[in-house]
Amino acid sequence: MQKPNRRLENQTCIITGASSGIGKAVAKSMGMEGGNIVVNYNSGKKEAEELAHWISENSDCGQAIVFKCDVSKESEVKAMFKKTIAHFGTVEVCVANAGIQIDHPLHEMPLKDWQKVLDVNLTGQFLCAKESIIEFKRRGMRKGVSKSLGKIIHMSSVHEVIPWAGHANYAASKGGLLMLMESICQEYGPDKIRCNSIAPGAIKTEINKDVWSTKEGAEGMLKLIPYKRIGIPEDIGSVASWLASDESEYINGTTIFVDGGMTCYPGFTTNG
Ligand code: BGC
Repeated sequence: MQKPNRRLENQTCIITGASSGIGKAVAKSMGMEGGNIVVNYNSGKKEAEELAHWISENSDCGQAIVFKCDVSKESEVKAMFKKTIAHFGTVEVCVANAGIQIDHPLHEMPLKDWQKVLDVNLTGQFLCAKESIIEFKRRGMRKGVSKSLGKIIHMSSVHEVIPWAGHANYAASKGGLLMLMESICQEYGPDKIRCNSIAPGAIKTEINKDVWSTKEGAEGMLKLIPYKRIGIPEDIGSVASWLASDESEYINGTTIFVDGGMTCYPGFTTNG
């Protein structure tokens, strides 16, 4: 278990989609860094409540609450920020993590499944970033808490640059996040707001369980990873905490790939 540390002490962190997988690991890690955590969930109420309890018990100085909302609904995202500010005073870190996959060959993809993925993965992250910026600017700089006015972390994917046949809605949403993140950096960097993305590769979670849980699936995945290990959610949690902390203060407008080298096209090791 990560040792309690205090890199996010006195900072409030909203993590969307935190009841499972990568979001859960990010929430735990930021909790262990002393942050106050808002565990957002859409359907995993019990898991979210257990996680919030775990964080409040195990963190040195951070507390956690849960908040249910569908990040693709503006009124619900606004309500989440309102509740967070009422409870903890403000927000310093937003990890826009909630994401879904609904896969189809493109010529069979119903418009509703294209739309749903874009709504959650891209519009949901836009709404969270927007509310974060409004709150960062309202609150102003708090000396001694963080050198930045606020930090936004988008949970992207290696598929912001790797095309993905059969998953065009997902890849398009992640490609869109790259431009969203860079545009926010350009627009709000002068306000000392940092905006970055993390791009996980193949991380063992529910979203890709049908692949890594079979022998052939896991072997196929490993062929795509030069480091020859499938990732675990904690690989992302620790990077997110560092990226939210002042240790990475000068990183702005960047995607950090946490993928064991997946973006280095291992298919070319013996070919091409
Ligand atoms: C997807 C996973 C996939 C990984 C690598 C992620 O963004 O959600 O399903 O295993 O990318 O392809």
